[in-house]
Amino acid sequence: MRKKIVAGNWKMNLNWDEANALFQEIAAIKKEGVEVLIFPSTPYIQPFIDTANRTISVGAQNAYAKDSGAYTGETSFQQLKSIGVNHVIIGHSERRAYFNETNVQLREKVDAALMHSITPVFCCGESLDIREAGNEKHFVTNQLKESLFHLSAEDFSKCIIAYEPIWAIGTGKTATNEQAEEMHQTIRSFIGDHYGEPIANSTSILYGGSCNENNAKELFSCYNVDGGLVGGASLKASSFKSIIDAF
Ligand code: PGA
Repeated sequence: MRKKIVAGNWKMNLNWDEANALFQEIAAIKKEGVEVLIFPSTPYIQPFIDTANRTISVGAQNAYAKDSGAYTGETSFQQLKSIGVNHVIIGHSERRAYFNETNVQLREKVDAALMHSITPVFCCGESLDIREAGNEKHFVTNQLKESLFHLSAEDFSKCIIAYEPIWAIGTGKTATNEQAEEMHQTIRSFIGDHYGEPIANSTSILYGGSCNENNAKELFSCYNVDGGLVGGASLKASSFKSIIDAF
């Protein structure tokens, strides 16, 4: 059985009072069989971990691959682990686009995460241009290959994948069920070719990109979609709860 996961990526949103109120509401949601992950801005991680109950995990949206040293402004996986962080988003398309993160750098981040027993939530996904040119499968599988496929089977099996087509992120334009299922199926069989069926079948692959309370049920009903990485709709407790309840 693959884990079912609903993750909220708050990005660089909410001041402390807003974030804390939202977190307390989300922490009160009860739902069996679904893992809930929240990725707030870095300063809120520690206080949330301190107040979180066992049903919700708090992760980081990014981290730097080096453990420590003269890297002003960065936070390392090692530091995050030392405050109890168990999940970090790696390779979000906004990191790739605005901070020029490459597949090679992301590979180093994946290694650093695993070295500190942190689960990478590894994001992949194509731009509209790439989809319109018909190259989306090649592009996405290459992202996986270049950043993850050096891992041992044991390490790979600790990763969560999030497929997030860039054209669907924050645009209100969700992938259709068919588009999501087709790519998730492609990703799973690509993993299967490299690591074998048992690992492919136990890897959770989340969908992200305008996932909301109106489309989550349909998306989550796709065989290869194991949950969502939710941006905008994770900033309202009622929407996020509906998405969790979509399972
Ligand atoms: P969105 O963002 O749900 O607002 O489209 C998803 C994401 O970027 O993780």
